[in-house]
Amino acid sequence: MKRESKIVHTGDRKKPGNFIPVTTPIYTAASYFYDSMDQLDRVLGREEPGPCYARYDNPTTSALEELVAELEGAYAAFATSSGMSALHLALLAALIDRPRRVVAGSVIYGATSSMLMKIFEPFGVDTTFSDVQDLAAFEKCVTDVKPGAILIETITNPLMRVPAIDKIAEISKNAGAALIVDNTFATPLLVRPLELGANLVVHSATKYMAGHGDVLGGVLVTDEAHFNSIKTISRTLGPVMSPFEGYLTMRGMKTMGLRMERQCANACKVASWLATHPRVERVHFSGDPSHPDAATVQRLFPKNLYGAMLAFEIKDGGRKEIFETMERLKMIVRATSLGDVHTMALYPAIASHRDLAPKQRQRLGIGDNLLRISVGIEAPEDIIEDLDQALKS
Ligand SMILES: Cc1ncc(COP(=O)(O)O)c(C=O)c1O
Repeated sequence: MKRESKIVHTGDRKKPGNFIPVTTPIYTAASYFYDSMDQLDRVLGREEPGPCYARYDNPTTSALEELVAELEGAYAAFATSSGMSALHLALLAALIDRPRRVVAGSVIYGATSSMLMKIFEPFGVDTTFSDVQDLAAFEKCVTDVKPGAILIETITNPLMRVPAIDKIAEISKNAGAALIVDNTFATPLLVRPLELGANLVVHSATKYMAGHGDVLGGVLVTDEAHFNSIKTISRTLGPVMSPFEGYLTMRGMKTMGLRMERQCANACKVASWLATHPRVERVHFSGDPSHPDAATVQRLFPKNLYGAMLAFEIKDGGRKEIFETMERLKMIVRATSLGDVHTMALYPAIASHRDLAPKQRQRLGIGDNLLRISVGIEAPEDIIEDLDQALKS
């Protein structure tokens, strides 16, 4: 080979050797080389496992997919570029051979309702929002609408209500719809929706899975029935997670169990403290024994792992009081995300639920005095002290 060719080829395409890396490395290759054309043909035809092109498979993200599928008790998982792209993929797979109608929980992440209204609706997919806590009304809505997909969240964003996934799965099955559950707030360590009858489970891996505020990613977890549709849609559209994000998510997940235990325990302490604070009108926390869905939480969640997200309403407060309180925070980070090791505060009215009209927010119970906290792994005393000084001034 001439030097110009050597520059291109030397050092590449070696067999990994007789060693096994202890953790999965980052594979950045866009495509993969096989010894024979027959083998490449088998891999491309999915008769033999193996990566061939980065829009189809990647060994780094495949390792993450294997891990999440195992934790969720799923047939397979697909790592995606964001939580929203996982939701998008789930809806496409659910509706590809079903009626183009969706029934969604009335209080869900703002971008999810925006996607349904602003993207799916113009393409002819109608969405009806219904209160998942009123099961009789929800069932009637599903009977009337006859949807192709039902979309709910394990712990709703931002009011922390907990729908009875098992009962909704029955309703969904009877209606012939696919049940999609956004399990981001709970993680498979708290709830495994497929075991309760869901068909597709979505995660924003950006949150608890990666856990350190340095990843944007998602994972779509599926039963066997939807596997082929997702594979086809995903291979064609390419909403895949990058190998670097896959590596960071996999690395983050190794401590997810420890983090969740600590975060859930911290959240219980912070929620109980907030409940007694004179400036706090009401606390929304799935681990509260007097929570309106406490019976469902006791049935579906493991003991002492009730979630680490909470929200509270400031007495006689509004935008001004929330802004002042948030600006006084010293340790708790004011930022748009959740599930990280550090405690975070978010004002739903200007962030996660900004796209909803103010009247709609009020109607759903997302008041202008509502502040959402993602409780981190710090010492609980420090989280409480910071909230105390911010609320007191
Ligand atoms: C419940 C829930 N689902 C999905 C998403 C979207 O995730 P991503 O930002 O990774 O697209 C979010 C983001 O905050 C969320 O809170």
